[in-house]
Amino acid sequence: MNNLYKNVKNINIPDNALDILNKLSEAGFEAYIVGGCVRDSLLGREPMDWDITTNAHPLEVKKLFKRTIDTGIKHGTVTVMKGQEGYEVTTYRVDGDYKDHRHPESVTFTPMLREDLRRRDFTINAMAWNPDKGLVDEFGGIDDLNAGIIRCVGDPMERFDEDALRILRALRFSAQLGYDIEEDTARAAKTLSDTLQRVSAERIQTELIKIMTSDRPTRLLEGRELGINKVILPELDEAIACDQNTPHHQWNVGEHSLRAAETIRNDKILRLSMLLHDIGKPSCKTTDEAGIDHFKGHAEVGAEMANNILRRLKMDNASIKKICLLVRYHDIMMKTEPTDKLVRKMLSVIGPENLDDLISVKKADVSAQSSYMQEEKLLGIERLKDKALEIIERGDALCLADLAVKGADLIEAGIKPGKEMGDCLKAMLADVLNTPSHNTREYLLRHIKNYL
Ligand code: CTP
Repeated sequence: MNNLYKNVKNINIPDNALDILNKLSEAGFEAYIVGGCVRDSLLGREPMDWDITTNAHPLEVKKLFKRTIDTGIKHGTVTVMKGQEGYEVTTYRVDGDYKDHRHPESVTFTPMLREDLRRRDFTINAMAWNPDKGLVDEFGGIDDLNAGIIRCVGDPMERFDEDALRILRALRFSAQLGYDIEEDTARAAKTLSDTLQRVSAERIQTELIKIMTSDRPTRLLEGRELGINKVILPELDEAIACDQNTPHHQWNVGEHSLRAAETIRNDKILRLSMLLHDIGKPSCKTTDEAGIDHFKGHAEVGAEMANNILRRLKMDNASIKKICLLVRYHDIMMKTEPTDKLVRKMLSVIGPENLDDLISVKKADVSAQSSYMQEEKLLGIERLKDKALEIIERGDALCLADLAVKGADLIEAGIKPGKEMGDCLKAMLADVLNTPSHNTREYLLRHIKNYL
C-alpha cells in the first residue's frame, strides 16, 4: 500500500462534527464520519459536507442534541444543527428493495457498521473514520484510492440496479479524480445504462455539471462507450461520430468540444458553452468535391439545439440564455476585419457585458483546433478584443438606451407609441451604429422621416 494514506489517525474534522461524534460516543453509541468526507479528507480535498453514521436510532439522536431537524426520519436521518451548520446523522441501515432504480422501498436499521458500508456505491465512498478507531475500510477503499480506481462495493450489477444514478456518478468521480473505472464496474454500467432514463433531469444536470467543471470533461468520451451519453446527451454521441475533414481541425466534433471545454476557465456557463458550441455541426455537415467538410449555419442551429438540450435538463433560464448566446455567436467575426462599424454591431448584438466570455469562448475554440493558422486566429481574436474595448471605452452608442433621443421626444415629434416607435428607435440605432456622430438629439429628430 502507498504511504499516502497511512496516517489516517489524523483526519482534520471540524470541531462541530467532532463534538457530535464525542457526544454520541459518551452516550454509549458508535459514531463515525462516513462516505464522501472521508474520501475527500484522505485525498486532501476540502469535503463539501460531513456525514455521520451511528448505531443510535433517530429518536436517540434527537434526545441527545438540542437542535435537530427531521430530515428523513424514515430513512434514519436527523440533521443536527450547530450554529448555522447542519450535520446529517444517519442510523446504520440496510436498504430494502429498489423498485424504481432510484429509491429504496424501505430501509432497515442494523447494528453493524459493516452492513451500512456494504450498501454504498463505491469502495472509495465506503469508508468510515473516528478518532478512536481510526479508519474502517472493509472493502479496499484505500487500495482503490491509491490505485486510482472506481470500483463498486460488492456486485456492481446489484449496486447499479439499486440506484441508476450511480452509473453516472462512476463517470463523474472518474472525471473529478482522474481515476479509471474498474472493468466489472464498467461492464455493469454499460449493461444497465438504459436504466439512467429513470433518473430525474435535475439529478442528471447536477452530475453533468460536475463532470464539465471537473479537471477532465474529456472523460465524457468514455460516456459513449459506457452507454451513458445515449441516455443523457445523445447529441454528444452524434458529435463524437462526426469527423471533420478540414485543415482547421484535428479532432471529431465531440472531442474538439470537450477538449475546448477542458481549456476554458472552470465556470459552469463557459464549460457548457464549449460542450455545446458545435453541437449543430453534425446536422449542417456538407462535403465539397475536394472532400473537405463544411458546417455552414452550425452556430445558429447549435443555439437552437442547446436551448432544447438545456431545457430538457431543467437548467435555469438565465444560464440557458447566456449559453445559447455564446453558442450562437462563438464564430462571429472570425473571418472579417474588425472594423469599428462591424465591432460596434457585434457588441450591440452580444451586449458589452458578454464580451469577456465571448472572447474566452473563441480562444478556447481555436486552442482545440489544429495548428493550421492557429497563431493568426488567436491574434485576430486579440485584435477583436482590443477594438471592442476601445469602442466601449469611447462610449459609442450600442443599444437603444444609449440613443440621444428618448420615447418622449418621439411622441412629441408625433410618433405613435408601440410598434411605430419601436421600429423608429431601431432604425436610429442601426444608423448610429454605422455613424456614431449621428447620435445627437438634434440630428436624429431632424432626420426622423428617414427612420420611419
Ligand atoms: N451514496 C451511495 N449511492 C448514491 C449516493 C450516495 O451509496 N447514489 C453514498 C456514498 O457512500 C456517498 C455518500 O452516500 O459517499 C454520500 O453521498 P453524496 O453526499 O451524494 O456524495 P459524496 O460521495 O459525498 O460526493 P459529492 O459530495 O462529491 O457528491
